[in-house]
Amino acid sequence: MDSNVIELLNELPQPLAMVLAGDPNEPKRRGGMTAAWLSRVSWEPPMVAISIAPERHTYQLIKDYRCFTVNLVSKSLEDIALNVFGVLSGWDLDKFEAVGLKPTSGRAVTAPIIANSPLIVECKLVNEVPVGDHVMIVGEVVDAYKGSDEVPLIYYRDIVVTVK
Ligand SMILES: Cc1cc2nc3c(=O)[nH]c(=O)nc-3n(C[C@H](O)[C@H](O)[C@H](O)COP(=O)(O)O)c2cc1C
Repeated sequence: MDSNVIELLNELPQPLAMVLAGDPNEPKRRGGMTAAWLSRVSWEPPMVAISIAPERHTYQLIKDYRCFTVNLVSKSLEDIALNVFGVLSGWDLDKFEAVGLKPTSGRAVTAPIIANSPLIVECKLVNEVPVGDHVMIVGEVVDAYKGSDEVPLIYYRDIVVTVK
């Protein structure tokens, strides 16, 4: 594919989130990753979809536990999203311990949440669809709530943008 086409796709604004899965009380069985390729995909029932590379540790946890949470990233979470959850792998370490975070379960699912995220969306895994070199994980939204009043960040042109 023409590299200019790939470059132009960075013009699509994306949300910036941390997708978390597993058992919050089990350091070896919990994890999560930063994700920008995500969207809502159904009104009724409400659903979201995230494109995840199949080698991600987070993908394995989502398959094993059949649920996950989407935690939008604010300015105060930007550093851990970009420098820990988005670059290190749960195959190698417990990212929660690495950032000194004690995760708790969601309200409707056991998957971990980041309690001070501006928006926490809890999902049950309902489908997965192979899409090129990724797998699209489809989750039915079972709860959503705000953990802070901070503004969520947008991922645009490969950089993080603040929207007022
Ligand atoms: C800003 C940003 C956005 C990302 N978006 C995605 C994404 O949508 N899908 C994906 O598979 N990986 C994405 N990644 C890469 C994963 O977050 C990264 O590979 C992570 O280390 C995987 O961790 P895990 O192996 O513990 O699951 C993104 C990384 C960054 C920094």
